[in-house]
Amino acid sequence: MSMGSDMYRQQILDHYKNPRNYGSLEDPDFSHGGHNPSCGDQLEFDVALADDGETVEQVAFEGDGCAISQAAASLLSQQLPGMTLDEIEQLDRDDVFELLGVDISPMRVKCAVLAEKVVQDGTAIYRGERDDEETNLED
Ligand code: FES
Repeated sequence: MSMGSDMYRQQILDHYKNPRNYGSLEDPDFSHGGHNPSCGDQLEFDVALADDGETVEQVAFEGDGCAISQAAASLLSQQLPGMTLDEIEQLDRDDVFELLGVDISPMRVKCAVLAEKVVQDGTAIYRGERDDEETNLED
């Protein structure tokens, strides 16, 4: 194991134990939740937009689950403010893997992408592009 990946492992544990932007927003423009049915791990994101209705101003999340799923949510919550809804819809799993900085085994891919999927589905629902249903990674 390289020093670099050690550092990322510590960062994941730190975000798991001390999640950033944890909680809920008083007046979010949209909220969306989802879970991974194979383990029950879950996340709920609140998103508040700037006056332009396009740029994320503030994000909060709550969740319960494994270190990877919760650290990915915390790391993503730090990236989102300043991003536009278009940019959120263009995120892909490689962006999440990059944030996490460690190799994600096939078994853990769902852990890593849960936060991204919840935020993307919430964005699509807000924009009327998707039915308002909880994100379920089995779908
Ligand atoms: Fe459930 Fe990681 S083990 S999301």
